[in-house]
Parts: sequence; C-alpha cells; structure tokens
Amino acid sequence: MVIFGAAGDLTKRLVVPALYNLVAARRLPDEFRLVGVDLADQTAEEWRKGLTDTMQQFVGKDGEFQIGRPDRDAWHRLAERMSYLQGDLDDPGTYDRLGKHLAKLDKTAGTAGNYLFYLAVAERFFGVAVTRLAAAGLVTERDGQWRRVVIEKPFGHDLSSAKALNAQILTALQEHQIYRIDHFLGKETVQNIMALRFANGLFEPVWNRQHIDHVQITAAETVGVEHRGRFYEKTGALRDMVPNHVFQLLAMTAMEPPISFDADAVRAKKAEIIQAIHPFEPARALNDVVRGQYDAGTVLDRAVQAYRREPDVAPDSNTETYMACKLKIDNWRWAGVPFYLRTGKYLKRRVTEIAVRFHQAPYALFRGTDVERMNPNWMILRIQPDEGIALEFAAKRPGPSMKLSSVSMDFAYKTYFRIEPSTGYETLIFDCMIGDATLFQRADNIEAGWQAVQPILDVWADNVPPDFPKYAAGGSGPAAAEELLARDGRAWRSLD
Ligand code: BG6
Repeated sequence: MVIFGAAGDLTKRLVVPALYNLVAARRLPDEFRLVGVDLADQTAEEWRKGLTDTMQQFVGKDGEFQIGRPDRDAWHRLAERMSYLQGDLDDPGTYDRLGKHLAKLDKTAGTAGNYLFYLAVAERFFGVAVTRLAAAGLVTERDGQWRRVVIEKPFGHDLSSAKALNAQILTALQEHQIYRIDHFLGKETVQNIMALRFANGLFEPVWNRQHIDHVQITAAETVGVEHRGRFYEKTGALRDMVPNHVFQLLAMTAMEPPISFDADAVRAKKAEIIQAIHPFEPARALNDVVRGQYDAGTVLDRAVQAYRREPDVAPDSNTETYMACKLKIDNWRWAGVPFYLRTGKYLKRRVTEIAVRFHQAPYALFRGTDVERMNPNWMILRIQPDEGIALEFAAKRPGPSMKLSSVSMDFAYKTYFRIEPSTGYETLIFDCMIGDATLFQRADNIEAGWQAVQPILDVWADNVPPDFPKYAAGGSGPAAAEELLARDGRAWRSLD
C-alpha cells in the first residue's frame, strides 16, 4: 500500500490508526508493506517516529479516534513494514523512483505484490497523480495482480469539476480499479441501515408514504472550522457534507431493495434514489434551502469566536457553516414525503441521526388525549454517538385514568456487541484490499450527488444576502431552519 500525502493529517489521524487496528486484529497478511510518499524531506525513520508519537496521543483515549489499549507488538509489526520516499506528486521522476522501490519490495518478498495507492492528498493532485501513475505503468493489471487507487473526498467542487475528474481518471484507470471513499460508509451504523431494512420482515412494509409522514436527517457537529479555514472558505457546509455524507444517509434510508448485495447492484439503487431527488429549480432553491454561519457563542461550555474571525477566513466571508433543506423524492415510494436535511458546525450537540416520523394514529380513541396531543411514532437511527436504534411510541401511564406518555424502545449497540476500537477506515481499507467496492462511490453516484445540489450552488452564488444569516455557536442553527419546518406544521427534533 502506498500513501500519497504520508506526512499529512489524514494519514496520521485516520489511515495509519486504521492500519494499526487491522494489524492488531491480524487482518493484514505478513507480506503487507506500507510506503509513504510525500514532499516532506524526512527519512523513513523520521516518518515512523512522527507516526509513533501521534499514535501515542490517540492510544487509550476516549476521543473520536480512539484506538483502544496500546499494543506495542502490533505497532511494531506495522512500523517495521513502513518505508518512505520523498517526492513531488507533480514530478514524473517520483513515480519512476516509486516503481523501482516497489519492484525492490517485491523482489525482497520473493513475490509480485498487488498495489493499493491511497491518495490522501489535496483534491488538486487527484487527477495528476492518477495520470502519472498510469504513465509510469504502475496501474497496469497483469498476471493476476491488481492495481487499485483510493481517492479521498472532496471529489470535485461542483458538477462540472466532478465530471472532469471522473473523465480524467477514467482515461488512466478502469472503474473497477477506483475506490472513491466516503468515510460515512465505514461507519457500522450506516451499514446497519441496510440490515435493518432488508434483513427484517417488520420494517420494510411500513417504509413508504402510506406510513411515513416525513424524515429528518441530521449531521450536527460541535467542532468549528478549526485549522481548516483555507479549505473551508471555498467549500462550505453544503459541498463539504451534503452531496457526499448526508446523501449517503439519504440513499441508505430511501433506496429500493437491491436484487443482491453485490457492489454494482447496491450502487445502482443508490444512484437511482439520488437521481430521483426533485430538482431544486431556482425559486425552490431559495425557499427550501437555508444557509447560516456561526457567530461567536459557547459550545460545550467553551467560549468560541465567530467564523469570520477564524484563521484563514475572510472577515466578510459568506461561506455557510450550516445548511438545511427540504427535498422531495420523485418516486412511488416517497411521493409526498418530505425529507428534511440539516448539517452544521458549532451546534449544541454532536449527533448524526436519521429520524423517521410515522403518521399519527387516524382516530383519537382515548378520552382526554386528542390526536393533536398524542405523540407520534418515531424511529431514530442513531449513527453517532451512542450508536443504536430507538422506537418511540405511546404507552398508557399507570393510574386509574387513560393518560398517554411517549416511551422509547431502545437498542444500543454497545449493550449487544463488543465494539472494536475503530476509526471507520478499517472496513474501507480492508474492503479495497479484498476488492469489494460496495461501500465506495461509483462515478454515477458522485455525479448524481453534485447534479442534485448544483442548482443550489448556482442560486446561492447569485444571491448573497446583504446580511448573511448568522446563528450563535452552541445553538441549534439559524431561525430560518426552524421556519422551514414550521411552514409545514412540523418541527426539528431537539438537539438538546
Ligand atoms: C468530513 C468533513 O468529510 O466529515 C468535515 O470534511 C466533517 O468537515 C467530517 O467534520 C464529519 O465526519 P465525522 O465522522 O466526524 O462525523
């Protein structure tokens, strides 16, 4: 495996910790070798040392990147398999040297290896790296050896750049060699949506417009833009989260059952649902989509500054750090069922969930409890944190009179399963190695996502509000997001 961007953040924080977890779980073969490539001028020893230091910061901590108890042996097994090559991704010479380096590793191992190239680099290098890998003959598959390339997000900046990038990489690689990562698909609970829907007889019969009133998808974060101002300024919440992560949640929730669990069968159904998103014509893009930017506030008891004061952010920036929208899906299953999506930084609580609201009971049978006041049924798929599934329904309160309360039947992952320490990248990297592309985006999936959001990007570019809508950091988002649902007589689930 070759990581381009070996000295970068993603490598340190996610890819290498994931490899460590795979080694610790004995899921990588003895012949596995890791080659780091980066512009940074350092020796293999220095690269290893830097990674060892970062790993030590993660080990045993209860953070997002928790990797469990230290296992020196496992780390040693990974570290001794690492080598490093300094090089510029723009320079063809880098790829020639890489080719020689890989040939040497093959020779030492006494066997011709399969090559997995992981592009953990800025988006502008994706095309050039693939083109140069091909020119150096490093991605030609022969004699049963595979050559695969993992491409990180963001895959394009809009529809035309995503199409151009697909066209460019598809001249050098075949689709089956390309693994476009969306790390949300590495989350167990996202994968479990398919199990919930298609491995049970109970839920699918009610998973449609006859029984579902609306769906809310939330990806709320308590982190701000941090040190990523330069990237985020030209990206914003919509591009950063929606056509990729949030649409993955949407696709898993709304897709038709695939005919098999085969990668192409699943990806075809997912592409179909994203293509069925009702186009946001300009009036709707203004009306049904809300944007906001965080102002100063308090998040998790910590005072934080406004987005416009963050490093590398323009003091008059109009980049959104929050977006919410209402969308419709044009097919028989979902006609008339609104999907409300929201995502933002520096919100009250970190929660990623899909909340499915079922129709009210049709008739108020119980005296003293009219239909309006009866709590509706919700099914909540909690992606993170506290992974699980809850079903909320009405129950009779103990006592002589008929009074109803909302109760919850709650399945928490951690009470049933021993959850292995994971960054979410383990499954994805492992799947690349075994050639299972189910959890990766095909070219049409990517383009369908951009196609759906492009009208919003266009309308936003042409209509910058004079006073960009703000929300206090640590709150629930801009007031307009509440109004978006209030207009339909609905309300967001509370972030409290
Ligand atoms: C990334 C975005 O793709 O996903 C980040 O670039 C965002 O801005 C992150 O914070 C959210 O992922 P997770 O796994 O922390 O929910």
